[in-house]
Amino acid sequence: MSFSTKLTVILLSALLLSGCSQTNSPSLYQQLGGAAGIEAITDGLLHEIEHDHRIVHHFADTDIARFRRLLAEQLCDLSGGPCVYSGGTMQQSHTGFNISLADYDALVEGLIKVMQQQNISISAQNQLLALLAPMYKDISYR
Ligand code: HEM
Repeated sequence: MSFSTKLTVILLSALLLSGCSQTNSPSLYQQLGGAAGIEAITDGLLHEIEHDHRIVHHFADTDIARFRRLLAEQLCDLSGGPCVYSGGTMQQSHTGFNISLADYDALVEGLIKVMQQQNISISAQNQLLALLAPMYKDISYR
């Protein structure tokens, strides 16, 4: 077998194996505790925001029931759950708030605290944070 054929076989096997392990391992949605887990994370985060003097002012005029519903829906959708996010784009929703990096970090700090409290595995926490990180550019300084 030539070197390139061997390499192709190895790469294809790796692809197949990773595909198999993905089907057998729980989705991020499941690792977050499904619908109930995500609802608990959302409520926990709302509680953190409410008590965080660094960022709570941004939410002074927010319809909290709507924010709660859409945040839970977005986390469900992002993590591979059976939901389709129906809210505004991140850019639309955060325009006019001039959200800083410090504000973003404060919110993420609250999210991590809540996930810790709910015994979400570090791996699942990191997977969710990695999905949220690219949104920073749409959320901040708008
Ligand atoms: C990972 C980061 C974030 C995600 C995933 C996220 C997600 C969302 C979602 C889903 C909504 C509802 C959209 C809609 O109403 O259609 C929303 C609204 C909002 N977000 Fe964020 N957000 C993030 C970061 C932040 C940060 C850091 C702040 C400020 C500290 C913030 C402040 C707000 C405010 C004030 C609203 C309500 C806007 C309004 O009242 O119309 N968000 N966000």
